[in-house]
Amino acid sequence: MGRRTYSALQARLRDEWFGIVETPDVWIDRGPMNDGESQSIRVENAATGMMGVAKPGPGKAAEEGHYRAAHEKLAFDLAYLVHLPVAPVVLWRDQAPDIYKRGRSISAWTFEQSLKWDEAQNRGLITPVLRESAGPIVSAMRVFHTWIADTDRKSDHTQVNVDSPEKSLETAFIDHGNSLAFVWKSADHPTPPQAPYMPAPEHSDVMIETAVFITGLEDGEVSRVVNRIGLPYLPADPKAHILANLLARKRNLRAILGI
Ligand SMILES: Nc1ncnc2c1ncn2[C@@H]1O[C@H](COP(=O)(O)OP(=O)(O)OP(=O)(O)O)[C@@H](O)[C@H]1O
Ligand SMILES: [Mg+2]
Repeated sequence: MGRRTYSALQARLRDEWFGIVETPDVWIDRGPMNDGESQSIRVENAATGMMGVAKPGPGKAAEEGHYRAAHEKLAFDLAYLVHLPVAPVVLWRDQAPDIYKRGRSISAWTFEQSLKWDEAQNRGLITPVLRESAGPIVSAMRVFHTWIADTDRKSDHTQVNVDSPEKSLETAFIDHGNSLAFVWKSADHPTPPQAPYMPAPEHSDVMIETAVFITGLEDGEVSRVVNRIGLPYLPADPKAHILANLLARKRNLRAILGI
């Protein structure tokens, strides 16, 4: 793997946030994103000025049975193990569980000049060469999203760097709230593969390589990442369902995808 290259800054943040579960920092509410079902808000790190997107927002704070924040964090942590560009996520305990029953997650602002794929496309910023260049990562991500049973993939959940190099589109994948225990309600809950949805060419060799890599992850690495997420974010039952399905699907990914 190691198909992605990150700027030094991004790489450091990825390592730092994979290393922790919860942010110890103070984050300031900078108002609603005004976009999306989970009513995300923009947040700013009080010490560093770094920006992020926190979810769920106030209108979804009381949802106890939807572990959005835990799913967001786990999707990043698992993607980190596979060296894939899910935007870094950390959990945020502020006002949990009193108001935010299952806590919140913060997704690091993807790129200084970041646009949703469709918006970049509509502005004519994704040239044919750039679209082609996204093929390998799109292929790898479909395998990853199949592993975690994400049910909310769309091209608008791919952020693109407007300042990408001329021939190589930089992408970051966001919004994994509706994956894992959102879908899996038992320890053995088979779910279908993610269908292709990104307007970029797929590479079957990359898909196979990614599936083989995920199959080769140590069970212990996956367990450690899942088991370290606790209350208020993730109760024991959904946690057990997540772990059991991740480990079973990890072994069978090629069969699930038919590759
Ligand atoms: N890390 C990030 N960097 C930049 N923008 C982000 C980031 N995370 C989320 N956004 C933006 O914040 C808004 C809400 O994002 P997200 O898709 O995670 O929430 P949602 O409520 O599930 O949305 P939807 O219902 O539209 O899927 C979107 O405009 C999205 O592009
Ligand atoms: Mg979304």
